[in-house]
Amino acid sequence: MKVVVTGGAGFIGSHACEHFASAGNEVVGLDDLSRARLLSKKSADTASYNWNFLSGMAGVRMNKTDVTSPAGLARTIRDADLVIHTAAQTAVTTSLVDPRTDFRVNLLGTFNVLEAARKAGTNPTIVFTSTNKVYGGNVNQIPVAEKASRYVFEDEMLNGIDESFSIDRCEHTPYGCSKTAADLYVQDYAHTYGLRTAVFRMSCIYGPRQFGVEDQGWVAWFIIAHLTGKKVTVYGDGKQVRDILYVTDLVRAFDSFASGRVRSGVYNMGGGRENTISILELVGMIEKWSGRDFELAYSDWRPGDQKVYVSDIAKARKELDWKPEVGVEAGVRKVYDWVGANRALLE
Ligand SMILES: NC(=O)c1ccc[n+]([C@@H]2O[C@H](COP(=O)([O-])OP(=O)(O)OC[C@H]3O[C@@H](n4cnc5c(N)ncnc54)[C@H](O)[C@@H]3O)[C@@H](O)[C@H]2O)c1
Repeated sequence: MKVVVTGGAGFIGSHACEHFASAGNEVVGLDDLSRARLLSKKSADTASYNWNFLSGMAGVRMNKTDVTSPAGLARTIRDADLVIHTAAQTAVTTSLVDPRTDFRVNLLGTFNVLEAARKAGTNPTIVFTSTNKVYGGNVNQIPVAEKASRYVFEDEMLNGIDESFSIDRCEHTPYGCSKTAADLYVQDYAHTYGLRTAVFRMSCIYGPRQFGVEDQGWVAWFIIAHLTGKKVTVYGDGKQVRDILYVTDLVRAFDSFASGRVRSGVYNMGGGRENTISILELVGMIEKWSGRDFELAYSDWRPGDQKVYVSDIAKARKELDWKPEVGVEAGVRKVYDWVGANRALLE
């Protein structure tokens, strides 16, 4: 197969490139390296880290391409069998100060990918990395209870948020809007044009080679900050909970869809009920390993913040014959060790 991964030098994209190349496919990773804008110090090194990592890998070709300009995309996608679209403006905070860029990259970029796929001669399968932010403020309508180190859903029988949860009539933030609109377009290209498409509405994905910053990639950010001596601000009280999914488990789900028979689908994707953690619990875990206290500051909740988000992953389990395999503590430890080994780059 020829597999095209947009955002190939990003965190999830680079793992997708690695996964599909090691299975013997021809992989083309596209990226414009614009994540550098989100990364502050040593941004040039960190932004190109995954690019360099992949450039030496058999079966992978990296190509500097901006998804907002259709020509280069179309050239690469015209003979693709599978397109994994991860390129995006990924930070809610950036979307609030520059909604136009967020709109161009996330919506126009996705539209360009879909159009290139529609016009390709190979009828490629599309996998789109959407987000739990499509459910916006509706998530905060679910009653939660406060425990010592975390919020929980008041209804203990609730398995999490499934795909039938409402995506509209609530606040979203510009990032939530651009991703929701793109999510709908991807679904509609299956309905209207018969493309095979999957939408993965992801909660929190984490793993090595994630250059987390305060604005995005919180598990990695907390570890990086702690091990490189930076102060961390907690927005809210630190009891907010997410289900977290180790990145290699995610790309296995992409592969299950790509190699399976389902024509099109929308999947909530995360660690599910068995793999949840709050900020305070993550802090405790990291302090236990490092033997040092965190330097924490507290600030107000930010727009769009959700107290509890847990994905109901039953549909993905069933339709994709998939389940998470890396548990929270083992997965977080892998990130901790990766950060420890790359401290000089991340300082
Ligand atoms: N990491 C998570 O927990 C998470 C959760 C929900 C959704 N997502 C979605 O998953 C996708 C990947 O996220 P990630 O964590 O790997 O982020 P990332 O920032 O590491 O990767 C995104 C990549 O896209 C590239 N990019 C940005 N604009 C581009 C453009 N115009 N043209 C080409 N490349 C461009 C960036 O340079 C970067 O390398 C995004 O679509 C994001 O919205 C991620």
